[in-house]
Amino acid sequence: MAKIIVVCNQKGGVGKTTTAINLSTFLALEKKKILLVDLDPQGNTTSGLGIDKTNLQKTSYDLLIGKAEAVEVITLTAVENLSLVPSNTDLIGAEVELVSEIGREFKLKDALDRLSGQYDYIFIDSPPSLGLLTLNALCASSSLIIPLQCEYYALEGLGQLMTTIQMVQKSINRSLQIEGIVMTMADFRTNLTQEVIKEVKEFLPGKVYESVIPRSVKLSEAPSFGKPIWFHDKHSQGSIKYKELAIEFLKKNEPCDTKSAREQLTEKTQAQKVLGNETIVPHETSSLEQSAETSINQEIKAPSQNIVSRETDSVFRIPPEGVINSHN
Ligand SMILES: Nc1ncnc2c1ncn2[C@@H]1O[C@H](COP(=O)(O)OP(=O)(O)OP(=O)(O)O)[C@@H](O)[C@H]1O
Ligand SMILES: [Mg+2]
Repeated sequence: MAKIIVVCNQKGGVGKTTTAINLSTFLALEKKKILLVDLDPQGNTTSGLGIDKTNLQKTSYDLLIGKAEAVEVITLTAVENLSLVPSNTDLIGAEVELVSEIGREFKLKDALDRLSGQYDYIFIDSPPSLGLLTLNALCASSSLIIPLQCEYYALEGLGQLMTTIQMVQKSINRSLQIEGIVMTMADFRTNLTQEVIKEVKEFLPGKVYESVIPRSVKLSEAPSFGKPIWFHDKHSQGSIKYKELAIEFLKKNEPCDTKSAREQLTEKTQAQKVLGNETIVPHETSSLEQSAETSINQEIKAPSQNIVSRETDSVFRIPPEGVINSHN
């Protein structure tokens, strides 16, 4: 059974999508089977993974209103083990269309429950609102990850989110838990960052991840290349910290599997990455307990569909054997 986790904060621009994409990617690189559901009409998760949101056959909209089964909507991404339910502006219509439906809060849950056996984790990227889309995500999930920006108003709006969570817990999803708080866009040159982290830790003891995501230009530019940070700049601080976050997440969720995961991950792999027009062939070892600076074993295969890179704005099909060496 997949654990379903929503990345949620009704505040805009706090790093929900960045966290959803990069946490999912690093878990997929750790050989976890991941489904990422883009439940935001902005479609930033979709384009951030290099998928053209203007050219989608079926989206999370079709899933929500019951026009399509999840299997029809799911698309592969360039990252092995990471699949996506894409989204675009069609999803705006779902909130309106579902308003009069009975059980409208459970549409996503019903759809995802049917395929939960196929994944280890399902992440949902939610929009910056507490409307019906977010409510569907909260009903479908067993826990939520809340990204909070390291800024003075970090806790502003958190109270409202807590009220919503309690309301959902009381009425429609008793088992909903807070998975963790991810502090994002930290600037350790300022005292403010430290103070905000301290304040949030006091407000929600034991819930704040130790891995704090720094403000990073590389993280902000990666979506414009349609790549998770690992594939944009694996040595950047953003990449290192999101990898640490994934490791922390796994240690919390799979404490008993640490040994087997370590054994599995230290095995040499014939890894090959193909993303965009580059191929990298790493042959390094990795383990859950290796430092984040060490390269991760990885295996990335060409996606089965056309991918649009915003870098070139052109559609390209990755040839099955079209291997171009790169040395990043
Ligand atoms: N750690 C970071 N450092 C620098 N820029 C970041 C960082 N995290 C996210 N960003 C950038 O900040 C902007 C907002 O991030 P993101 O889209 O992840 O937030 P969001 O909460 O999903 O936004 P929305 O509420 O609109 O869905 C994006 O341009 C993103 O590239
Ligand atoms: Mg977003």
